[in-house]
Amino acid sequence: MNYTKALQNPLFKIIAKASQELNLESYVIGGFVRDYLLQRDFKKDIDIVAIGSGIELALKVSELLPHKPKVQVFKNYGTAMLRYKEIDIEFVGARKESYNQDSRNPIVENGTLEDDQNRRDFTINALAFSLNPNNFGALVDPFNGLSDLENKIIKTPLSPDITYSDDPLRMLRGIRFATQLHFDIETESFLAIKRNAERIKIISGERIVDELNKILETEKPSIGFLLLYKTGLLDLILPELTALNNVEEIDGQTHKNNFYHTLEVVDNICSNTDDVWLRWAALLHDIGKAPTKKFNKKQGWTFHGHEFLGGKMVKRIFERLHMPLNNKLKFVQKMVMLSSRPIVLAEDIVTDSAVRRLVFDAGEDVDYLMTLCEADITTKNPKKFKKYHDNFDIVRNKIIEVEERDHVRQFQPPISGEEIMELFNLKPSREIGILKEAVKEAILEGEIPNEYEAAFEFVLKRAERLGLTRIV
Ligand code: CTP
Repeated sequence: MNYTKALQNPLFKIIAKASQELNLESYVIGGFVRDYLLQRDFKKDIDIVAIGSGIELALKVSELLPHKPKVQVFKNYGTAMLRYKEIDIEFVGARKESYNQDSRNPIVENGTLEDDQNRRDFTINALAFSLNPNNFGALVDPFNGLSDLENKIIKTPLSPDITYSDDPLRMLRGIRFATQLHFDIETESFLAIKRNAERIKIISGERIVDELNKILETEKPSIGFLLLYKTGLLDLILPELTALNNVEEIDGQTHKNNFYHTLEVVDNICSNTDDVWLRWAALLHDIGKAPTKKFNKKQGWTFHGHEFLGGKMVKRIFERLHMPLNNKLKFVQKMVMLSSRPIVLAEDIVTDSAVRRLVFDAGEDVDYLMTLCEADITTKNPKKFKKYHDNFDIVRNKIIEVEERDHVRQFQPPISGEEIMELFNLKPSREIGILKEAVKEAILEGEIPNEYEAAFEFVLKRAERLGLTRIV
């Protein structure tokens, strides 16, 4: 079979021409070929392997392209990249490669196409289309990658112990591809991941998180997290999650398995948000439950303060995995810390003031918080399920109502500290703080609307109690 159709983009003809001018062979390899054969969307990253210098090929291709795009050269890796019409093309020379055990620095030698395919991660990623004049568009498939694609199998070209040990990140990549593509990991490969799991420790947090994000971005991340769990990788990467995987019983009372519950919440939230950080929040929302778990005869199992502790644990995880320590961290922490608030609300009669406080604390993120908490409803009791969802509808409506009246989402005090100081001829002092706090409380409790006039009157009355007199 010939795949010339896959190579209709004029870019491929230009790469072919450049290769001929340099008198070397070249091939499209990896994800582009895989995704074409799977009929996935056209891939915007294209990998080209040259039997010779990838850097020279990249420079030649650039010469032949209109406007001669800039070539980024990574001499140490023997690779080069250029971008043309929003497509990133990476060029690499075919390599025979082995890694030494303690470092990620490969010992590199020039090799044939087959050598290069050998050292790739999976048979489905080792497929190549020829760009050479004698067989342009031919599929080069020495490891039966095509049949693995058809049978939906993740399998390594070499013995999996070698492939995974060469680059342990591939264990995560395998699980990620299994999740994204709904493929199975071949048994040999699965067992090799189990055996080699410890080697994930030499991989940087950034690379690990890239893969975790890709798993979280799928429609059913639980597939990936279960595989991570079964292979032992999860215990090494996120032990806070595996600590949730137990059910204890005392005096005939049990608690739910919070690990499986968490995975259900993550899957649930995926139908309601594409935001990967909200998905992280779902993944981490209960991590404080393992360290706070207690049993007492009166209440049974309790997890007091798990949200607060969970928020602190989120920070440690972000630091450990070198995740962004900016507003993304703040957002996930806030979601975890507030994660029980709406459900507590929905269990009871929903009062205006409770809703107003929720909106005040969650601010701009209140809708995200509601999405998280709705995903958190995993009860199998249909009556309870309906009751919670109905109550959440009431909460959502009240949020809109209360916000229209009091604008507490981005709370600005209706009367400023400066004005209060002027009114009573005060210097910055404790009294100012007390009065400002009292105004905020009165608004949240619904005693006064969030308006200047009402706040002004309220301050005058409250100041009297503090023994302050107005300077007229
Ligand atoms: N590759 C590998 N081992 C890795 C990473 C990549 O062997 N640890 C090889 C694979 O052949 C892969 C190609 O390099 O197909 C390109 O890698 P990359 O762009 O990271 O992945 P893609 O397969 O293109 O897929 P995706 O974009 O979904 O990550």
